[in-house]
Amino acid sequence: MSPFVAAGNRYADMPYRRAGRSGLKLPAVSLGLWHNFGDDKPLDVQRAVLRRAFDLGVTHFDLANNYGPPPGSAETSFGRHFAADFRPYRDEILVSSKAGYLMWDGPYGEWGSRKNLLASLDQSLARTGLDYFDVFYSHRPDPETPIEETMGALDTAVRSGKALYAGISNYSPEQTEAALAALKDLGTPLLLHQPRYSMLDRWVEDGLLDTLDSHGVGSIAYSPLSQGLLTDRYLDGVPADSRAAGASPFLTSDRLTEETLATVRALNDIAKGRGQTLAQLAIAWVLRRGRVTSALIGASSVAQLENTVAATANLEFTDDELAAIERVLGR
Ligand SMILES: NC(=O)c1ccc[n+]([C@@H]2O[C@H](COP(=O)([O-])OP(=O)(O)OC[C@H]3O[C@@H](n4cnc5c(N)ncnc54)[C@H](OP(=O)(O)O)[C@@H]3O)[C@@H](O)[C@H]2O)c1
Repeated sequence: MSPFVAAGNRYADMPYRRAGRSGLKLPAVSLGLWHNFGDDKPLDVQRAVLRRAFDLGVTHFDLANNYGPPPGSAETSFGRHFAADFRPYRDEILVSSKAGYLMWDGPYGEWGSRKNLLASLDQSLARTGLDYFDVFYSHRPDPETPIEETMGALDTAVRSGKALYAGISNYSPEQTEAALAALKDLGTPLLLHQPRYSMLDRWVEDGLLDTLDSHGVGSIAYSPLSQGLLTDRYLDGVPADSRAAGASPFLTSDRLTEETLATVRALNDIAKGRGQTLAQLAIAWVLRRGRVTSALIGASSVAQLENTVAATANLEFTDDELAAIERVLGR
């Protein structure tokens, strides 16, 4: 591929939204590298998706130590693309990583100890070739490690300059309160919570978003397309190159029940009425009325990425549209 020169108009269309009461703005749509960036995916497709994302104003790329397959390979791939294409743009992009899920053998290879988090952070920096991450997350709460220790590790990550901001992911409202209290004692703010959130999974509405709002913490919603269910991907069966047809244990075709597909079809009709694709409706809905800072998507092709990002052209909903969606979702 020829050398990458970013599009001159890359900031023309993407809205940027402030994360809570911080100084940092995130693109309304961010790109995650959980799937589609492991050793099982062609590097040229990965590279084209990253380039196009940046040209569309997607300034945030989300990683974790274990993304692949195999675990670690998404960070290694990103490091190659960063070195080839994005190094001149380092100050224009936000790169995050996380530690907490199983990464290496023995008692220190997962969860929330200081040992795990800080060793993993160094490994992630080495794999990506970055000097620092913009956000470093505790990937999941650890029921056995004192929250003060886990948050102490995030505080150290920030004070050492290896991360600019601290984040947590998959923490309940109560666990979030405890994390916030520990970080407050240490004097390090919490920038972001990264929860799963989509029209098909609304647990964050039962307290988490209120907790984050009251403390001025931002939110970045992962799997807003429900891993592809909230798109046209499965309307006519399971395509051979889709996540549900592949080896991923996270989306298996038994999720595609007639009941779910009926819901998806009805949502697709509402999307059409708005002049949007279902993917665009799903993203606009997660971002509706500003409660969530950014929608964290995945994409297996440039065409998908372009389709999804175009959601930002219409993020507004009438009360009637929102009520129609609630009816379809049986609420
Ligand atoms: N913190 C955590 O614990 C956690 C957990 C999960 C994810 N995440 C983060 O969230 C990111 C996104 O997760 P996700 O990949 O599950 O998100 P998603 O956006 O809900 O699903 C992405 C998948 O949907 C399909 N798709 C995307 N755009 C489409 C379009 N316009 N039309 C048709 N199909 C489309 C593709 O499936 P095909 O591959 O089948 O083409 C794509 O791989 C991850 O990369 C990661 O950064 C975090």
